[in-house]
Amino acid sequence: MPKTSRTVQTAATVGLALFLAAPALSAQTGGTLAERNEDITNTRHNFSISSGRPGTAATLPGTFVDYGEICVYCHTPHGGNYDQGPLWNRNAPAASYTMYNDVTNTGQSDIDMSPFATTPNGVSAACLSCHEGTVGVDVVVNAPNTWDPASGTPGSGTNLSAMFTTSPDNLKVIGADLRNDHPISMVYDPTLDDQFKDLATVTNGNRLKLFGGGVGVGTVECATCHNPHTANATFLRIPNGSSALCLTCHTK
Ligand code: HEC
Ligand code: HEC
Ligand code: HEC
Ligand code: HEC
Repeated sequence: MPKTSRTVQTAATVGLALFLAAPALSAQTGGTLAERNEDITNTRHNFSISSGRPGTAATLPGTFVDYGEICVYCHTPHGGNYDQGPLWNRNAPAASYTMYNDVTNTGQSDIDMSPFATTPNGVSAACLSCHEGTVGVDVVVNAPNTWDPASGTPGSGTNLSAMFTTSPDNLKVIGADLRNDHPISMVYDPTLDDQFKDLATVTNGNRLKLFGGGVGVGTVECATCHNPHTANATFLRIPNGSSALCLTCHTK
């Protein structure tokens, strides 16, 4: 692949070639390289000031532990948990959740893709291990170079609720009541509701990512709409200008 692939045109061409050659790969990885725009160093998910976190040091509390690495707050090469994210370096939040389908207050829902999970599936729990707001963002299972089981879980325990309290920052705390958030952890099945686009449209053409269901089926999770590594605004897999993200799935 030529080094010049940084130019938009070349990157798009390479992406198109990949897409034509291997559409299944494209579906799994969530879009072409150019669309994915993965550059985590320059995002708010880089929690290490010494690793080039963008913005000023003042955006993190002084007690927050800087491990000098970027991935480690979420992934570890050894000894992590595997039931949430891949090589996951965090523990699940203890909270019990109120899911979207628990809604009884409006009676306006038209939910056809039930049954929803009664608790978020693993990969959404992975996001919620920080965004639920109670588990320390710097609390990891396996800290780099210093692992000593006798010392217990490393990290200061500074959680998202404490780090980001003022509006609009406090919106980053999703909490355990998911009734006011887009539904998650249901199988995307447009045969149950004709107001939804077919699977190929969702996963190939528009490059969102469904989870855990094998080829052709899968569930909607936080990381269906978001890519935690992308430099796109609000970590969206595809930008939502003209509601392009919403209209990838919804026929409205
Ligand atoms: C803020 C948390 C977070 C950080 C930091 C993070 N990741 Fe991830 N990563 C996730 C989550 C959640 C998933 C699962 C969801 C998905 O597939 O997008 C994931 C999935 C992956 C995957 C498999 C799916 C894919 O997109 O290829 C790889 C590989 C990966 N991460 C590598 C890395 C590397 C390398 C770094 C550091 C440079 C990193 N991640 C930093 C949260 C993070
Ligand atoms: C290790 C903890 C951690 C994990 C895991 C994590 N996040 Fe975050 N996320 C944060 C923190 C802390 C911020 C706020 C950073 C800031 O404002 O500087 C944030 C910010 C965000 C934002 C707002 C970005 C913006 O531009 O304001 C979104 C969206 C987001 N995360 C989505 C996700 C999703 C989706 C996942 C799972 C795929 C995830 N996060 C996993 C800690 C985490
Ligand atoms: C159906 C798509 C979709 C799903 C599923 C989804 N989000 Fe989002 N999320 C978005 C969009 C679009 C935005 C940007 C909203 C805006 O700019 O106001 C966003 C914004 C956010 C923000 C920034 C604060 C805000 O409200 O603007 C956070 C944090 C976040 N999402 C976390 C999550 C987590 C955690 C999950 C899973 C529990 C999740 N998202 C599931 C589409 C989604
Ligand atoms: C990955 C596909 C996908 C994307 C992208 C998506 N949705 Fe959804 N949305 C769903 C599914 C699936 C449901 C549950 C529908 C069902 O069970 O019948 C849903 C439910 C909803 C509901 C609740 C409907 C009800 O009857 O209670 C609203 C409102 C909604 N979505 C709005 C949005 C908006 C706004 C966006 C863009 C920010 C968006 N969705 C993006 C798949 C998606």
